[in-house]
Amino acid sequence: MDHLQWMRGELDRLAAAGQARALTESARARREGWIIRNGRSMLNLASNHYLGLHHEVNEDVMSRWNDYADRIRAESGSGAVGSEAGKSGEPGGSPIRTGATASRLIVGGDPILGSFEREFAAYKGTEACLIFGSGYMANIGIISALAGRNDLVFSDKYNHASIVDGAILSRAKVFRYRNRDMNHLEQLLRKADPAKRKLVVTDSVFSMDGSIAPLRELVELKERYGAMLMVDEAHSGGVFGLRGEGLAGELGLTQRIDVHMGTFSKAYGCYGAYASGPALVIDYLINKARSLIYSTALPPMLVYAIRDQWNIIRTEGWRRDALLRKADWLRGELRSAGFDTGDSECHIVPVIVGDNERSLVFGSKLQEAGIAAVPIRPPTVPEGSARIRLTPMATHRDDDLRMALDIIVSIGLELGVI
Ligand SMILES: Cc1ncc(COP(=O)(O)O)c(C=O)c1O
Repeated sequence: MDHLQWMRGELDRLAAAGQARALTESARARREGWIIRNGRSMLNLASNHYLGLHHEVNEDVMSRWNDYADRIRAESGSGAVGSEAGKSGEPGGSPIRTGATASRLIVGGDPILGSFEREFAAYKGTEACLIFGSGYMANIGIISALAGRNDLVFSDKYNHASIVDGAILSRAKVFRYRNRDMNHLEQLLRKADPAKRKLVVTDSVFSMDGSIAPLRELVELKERYGAMLMVDEAHSGGVFGLRGEGLAGELGLTQRIDVHMGTFSKAYGCYGAYASGPALVIDYLINKARSLIYSTALPPMLVYAIRDQWNIIRTEGWRRDALLRKADWLRGELRSAGFDTGDSECHIVPVIVGDNERSLVFGSKLQEAGIAAVPIRPPTVPEGSARIRLTPMATHRDDDLRMALDIIVSIGLELGVI
């Protein structure tokens, strides 16, 4: 294996720079908002499961899913359980499928997908919706479909890695504008060839900062310069909007955005993602998004779970209120204690430590004290801004958060962070 020694060299270099990464394991604990990690229970301040939705796969849920599956199969004419097709043993009479078995464009299009897409498009206030395998797949598929070799992509410098990768994959010329800096974006748009097709893309909530994109200004700029605008609502879906539609919905900007993207992996507590927007755009993506065309469809069983979570999200507004209230409290207390929480203004609260090594020590001391909160280091965040990313949940108990705050403050003092 001598010819693989270059990997050892690179791993050693990462370790020396405090940038080595490793997989971790954790299981759900019984207590709300806690997990079991390395054999002990810890308060979970590290997940994207913002609303604290839990999904117990029990008899009730399965029979509810099967009833719903019967209904949509009957509506779509693909044969319900107990129908003649089912009795004769023909395909279509089986209960909910776990795997989709193929791409949506082959035979992986279980009726639940189309049925949920129609419901979800109406909820988002868009004409159409398209479900992807994951947020990462959605971003690389959408961006590389909407932009090509001769086009221009304008991407916020703090956008998620999947947007960065989508832009690279598109082979378009990529301009990265300074985070949320609309003057910089406008300069770049003004200088760009007016004849070229342009795509502006932004996260709506920046995942490592908890800062919010200036969507109104972005919409005005994209209209002024004839660009398309794509908004990634991964961290705002379920959290913003009257029924959790996301930030664009909350600001009344839905119709002025060309493509909305969001995941079912964060506040939804499931997996999978969507693009939504005008029917023309969605039809284009069906024809051009390679991560949709050349990949197996999301398991139908998961779509039933997503739909259940979505029903909770749109009806239980108290979860949004509780989440934002708890995050406000935590951020306010951390700031008063002297921590730098950057530009956070919502439910993601970073504690900026600066140095990689110190962030690792901070993270392991938190773990020792029973708090799961992960150090985030470059290249995920800019050099010199390593941080502990804290994410409270709607269902965290106030006394648990108070306990976490006391521990964070005492470690911050010990390490000289505050
Ligand atoms: C802004 C943003 N977009 C997309 C993704 C990818 O989503 P998924 O985890 O569903 O692949 C993430 C995940 O971290 C994200 O933070």
